[in-house]
Amino acid sequence: MAPAVFAAETLNKIEEIMARYPTRRAAILPVLYLAQEEFGCVDDRALMAASKVLGVSKADVYGVATYYSMFETKPFGRNVIHLCDNLACSLLGAESLQDHLERKLEIQMGQTTTDGRFTLKNAECLGACAQAPVMLVNDDFYEGLTDAKIDEILAKYE
Ligand code: FES
Repeated sequence: MAPAVFAAETLNKIEEIMARYPTRRAAILPVLYLAQEEFGCVDDRALMAASKVLGVSKADVYGVATYYSMFETKPFGRNVIHLCDNLACSLLGAESLQDHLERKLEIQMGQTTTDGRFTLKNAECLGACAQAPVMLVNDDFYEGLTDAKIDEILAKYE
């Protein structure tokens, strides 16, 4: 399998990024952001492209891509929901909210709606336990969730 090919403009950005870091390995995270933006996800071909341009092993790139929840290794919906299911959120109803989301979107956790509108994922603690239960939709943070609040929130996203 051949690696994906970054656009020339992206390669210029990558050069600028790498110049700011002491090692090429240290630039994996920002390069993966660019790869996901350009290729739609960080699948095998995108990881190979990032590995090649950085001059680091694919294992290093893969390790970072799969460690952080903001990277998707397969195609995903236009909007990604990260519902926290860690302790505080669980104690305050995350499981019931997950049931609600799965019923409403007609998908299971980890899946994408057939229209590509939403991907539903669990998240580890989002660092806002005092506002539990919480979720992210893309980069937007929502707290004190209820079924009704979730319905209002989802209506904002196309
Ligand atoms: S447990 Fe959900 S934000 Fe901490």
